Amino acid sequence: MTLRIVLCAILVICCGPIEFSHGQTDVETLLSQMTLKEKIGQMTMITLNAVSKGDLPFTPKEPHEFDPERLKRVITDYQVGTIFNIGHHAFSKSYWRQIVTELQNQTRTGTRLKIPLLYGVDALHGMSFSTDATFTPHQIGLAATWNPDLVRQASRITAYEARAAGIPWVFSPAAEPGRNPIHSRFYESFGEDPLLCAAMTAATVSGYTEADTYERVGATLKHFIGYTIPRTGRDRSGADMAEHMLRDIFLPPYAAGIKAGAQSVILNLADVNGLPIHGSRYWVQGVLKDELGFKGVVVSDWNSVDYLYFHHHVAKDSRQAIEQAVNAGIDLVMVPFDLTFVDHLESLVNEGRVAVTRIDDAVRRVLTFKKDLGLFEEPILPETRYPLYGSETFAAVSRRAAAESLTLLKNTNKTLPLAKTAKVLVTGFGADTMTTLNGGWSYTWQGREADAYNPEGVTILDAIRAQVGEDHVVFVETALDRSDQIDSAVNAATGVDAVILCLGEIPYAEVFGNIDDLTLNPSQLELARRLGERGKPVIVVLTQGRPTIISTIEKKMDAILLAYLPGNEGGHAIADVLFGRVNPSGKLPYTYPAGPNALFTYDHKHSEIYSFHVLYPFGWGLSYTEFSYQNLRVSPNRLYPADTLTVSVEVTNTGDRPGQEVVQLFISDLYASISPPVKRLKGFQKVALSQGETQTVTFTLTAKDLAFVNAENHLTAEAGEFTASIGGLNEPFILTASREVTW
Ligand code: NOJ
Repeated sequence: MTLRIVLCAILVICCGPIEFSHGQTDVETLLSQMTLKEKIGQMTMITLNAVSKGDLPFTPKEPHEFDPERLKRVITDYQVGTIFNIGHHAFSKSYWRQIVTELQNQTRTGTRLKIPLLYGVDALHGMSFSTDATFTPHQIGLAATWNPDLVRQASRITAYEARAAGIPWVFSPAAEPGRNPIHSRFYESFGEDPLLCAAMTAATVSGYTEADTYERVGATLKHFIGYTIPRTGRDRSGADMAEHMLRDIFLPPYAAGIKAGAQSVILNLADVNGLPIHGSRYWVQGVLKDELGFKGVVVSDWNSVDYLYFHHHVAKDSRQAIEQAVNAGIDLVMVPFDLTFVDHLESLVNEGRVAVTRIDDAVRRVLTFKKDLGLFEEPILPETRYPLYGSETFAAVSRRAAAESLTLLKNTNKTLPLAKTAKVLVTGFGADTMTTLNGGWSYTWQGREADAYNPEGVTILDAIRAQVGEDHVVFVETALDRSDQIDSAVNAATGVDAVILCLGEIPYAEVFGNIDDLTLNPSQLELARRLGERGKPVIVVLTQGRPTIISTIEKKMDAILLAYLPGNEGGHAIADVLFGRVNPSGKLPYTYPAGPNALFTYDHKHSEIYSFHVLYPFGWGLSYTEFSYQNLRVSPNRLYPADTLTVSVEVTNTGDRPGQEVVQLFISDLYASISPPVKRLKGFQKVALSQGETQTVTFTLTAKDLAFVNAENHLTAEAGEFTASIGGLNEPFILTASREVTW
């Protein structure tokens, strides 16, 4: 660490500020001055490791140092216009700034047209490859807040802190619904529902893009399309799905994200129905660009153009893969090491296999993106411009987001909240580590070094001690897979009033999170089972990216608090809920399965009802108070396709303290040309109610809200009968005539 600080200081002195004197850059003028090679350089994206010292591909020198030879080859010889990523270590904000400054300087001094470089990073829950940034909950937790405005605020922080670190582009949000909970990237999603994903995607994109130039970043929707329902459950395997269903479930969040201002899209590196998306002109040019009207930059995923050749076998070699991908409509290729991409594409254009107009279209999009991000003016503003970076103010927003995400799945006999005077045993492998609070994509790609990078981080144990005092807490460490430590934990339960048992998953990302079975690991289940027999209330806190199967212990636990991956403020947020400072209001953004083979979504078909076993349903989550619903009204109860109707309901806080409730409107289409789902979420509102307070919540629906994608792939509202349901109340209504609608 000390060496890194010294290196930073040296770099600060060496790297002067970068200036690009393009003034009011006109993209067309610039494009007209570019050689083919310069254009292709703008379509190329190289990873930081490829210009740094160290063994390629994955062992960068520590502390980081640029390799002047590699830097010159990439930026000057090959004119590469985009660098990205980090992956295997985290930097301070100051060091990030030096990195980007150095790259811009190389671009300014080493290229003819001095087109500023674009830097992009996976800031998936905050600027989470910075050692000193604010880490917010992962997307799955943000979705559980059902509070888009709070999610917007969290994304604004990420944008601000990425910009402060000199980075104007983030590879987030993951727009697609996570439809297979065993998938290792499930936690990167906003859960299983298209409407919730669309609302959260739009909120995130707004948060990234709405501030002034130097506090906003380019947002990326990913991974277009069909990535999050892998047929094998394993990352990078393809999907099998009829096109109308793919459109029905996966397109809405993209449409919402594009409308909200997303300027880039990363593609799905897998196949859909055997067609790899990276080579599909139908999906990329046809659906994404032409149909959804996406004007931004379509980006390939890591090495995924080459995948067309060695992974999917739809191209005979790399060169043919490049031809397919660029002709499909890809604008920027995450190579990420191999510069032969540039040579191949140049020769493909010279041979007429890729049209110059296609190249110009791609480069125009990249340059427009760079211009929009303000890179031609001043790529990085002074560090002092960002006083709120890593501040308490930002931490408070993250803590609130984490607290609002926490989902109380079970609370027998009002076990929670605990009295501050209670003596508690804290145990379980997640009790005293920052790793399980943050999950993957935290400091490092796999997220296993969070304790080393953040030694001052507040774990669940630290936060509980801080709230109730050390003398009220007994801690017994129980490492994962150390069944020999179970006895000590079980014995310690004797002298306490309650047990707080922290279970969950170790961090993972992408293929490293592939598993064969969603069941919680055996030693954790055994610990829970043994503690459950002690006659003391056991409260399970789950920090996990996907719903581990806990059915064998669930009945024996008194309370279960699902924390998802709440980030660096998660310890505080969990203690806030356990001891009643915060009344929980999170709701499940997915269906919690009862068994490893019971992986259903709530919007299943009627015919699947016979096998639908869930532990907790989609939208579930308890509060310390109670809510009741009355007077559901649909008005009028006949909807003419050009009109609107309103659905209203009264909700009352009937319990003994203030609380927040998420009012969820579901619609059932009673019959349709395609077997309809039993119900679909069509609206939600989170309301705060004081004790005894009643509020009327109103939703406005149009024919579009009743539409689904039919067998001809048209988004259509079909005339017929519907039911609106909220909080257990149902009201029928009718759509008088059918109508085709657009996204
Ligand atoms: C591959 C991942 O699929 C994608 O989500 C990520 O943004 C890129 N790598 C860059 O790290």
